[in-house]
Amino acid sequence: MNTARPVVLTTIASTRSALADREGVVLVPTMGALHAGHVALVERAKQLGSPVVVSIFVNPLQFGASEDLDRYPRTLDADLDLLAGLGVDFVFAPTVDEMYPTGPSQTHVTAGGVGSLYEGRSRPGHFDGVLTVVAKLLGIVRPRHILFGQKDAQQVFLVRRMVTDLNFDVAVHTVETVREDSGLALSSRNRFLDAKEKRAALGLSRALDAAASSADQGIDAVVAAAQSALMGESLVKLDYLKVVDPDTFLPVDDHFRGPALAIIAASVGSTRLIDNETIYVS
Ligand code: PAF
Repeated sequence: MNTARPVVLTTIASTRSALADREGVVLVPTMGALHAGHVALVERAKQLGSPVVVSIFVNPLQFGASEDLDRYPRTLDADLDLLAGLGVDFVFAPTVDEMYPTGPSQTHVTAGGVGSLYEGRSRPGHFDGVLTVVAKLLGIVRPRHILFGQKDAQQVFLVRRMVTDLNFDVAVHTVETVREDSGLALSSRNRFLDAKEKRAALGLSRALDAAASSADQGIDAVVAAAQSALMGESLVKLDYLKVVDPDTFLPVDDHFRGPALAIIAASVGSTRLIDNETIYVS
């Protein structure tokens, strides 16, 4: 088995020259601290074409002043070990100065109305930061395909809309959320959970399962079932639990029928977690 590590590129110029004249580039953007969810993205990326580029960049623009930018895990060596043997050709791992040489860019992408709901409401400016760095990565790597995990459903929705609105010539792909056997969605932030918090964090997937099981009883019942699944979880501080139309990402009303997305965010201890599940409202 080939266990060679990918070639690591740290500058925009070297990335451009390594990828010059390569067609069909596939990009997996990440902030590192890689786990099995990222491996699933890379495996799908390999099916789409080559070369496969994984970007590893903790993007300061998408963290608010009171958020966990400083404590966000940075594990480049372990990430490269994990990617060795997966057939990733390049890792683009720039510094903050390389990406933002004059500080936060004057020009940035705004995520619009949906960008200020749910995650965006609790994390003002978050999605502007995400879309701006994704737009920069598209300009640097110039991929034919780009992949995101479904766990960040609102992010995927907004990236798709940006790609349409700004006419980026790239195909956006989504890969299913990878979960532990317990149901906990994999996240780079799970490593901050102690054993008790990890047990409590299962409340999120339990709430989504309860929502799915009540989906034939109307939206109010769905929300009530999900909320009651969290009852007694004193370590879980629910931020939002909503059922949205996947086509608009706006909340559905009681007349809605068809596949909808139940989305949830909560703090468990000092760690913010999100999750979502498709439910079939009948
Ligand atoms: O999902 C993430 O890890 C980040 O939001 C992304 C897309 C890499 C942009 O920084």
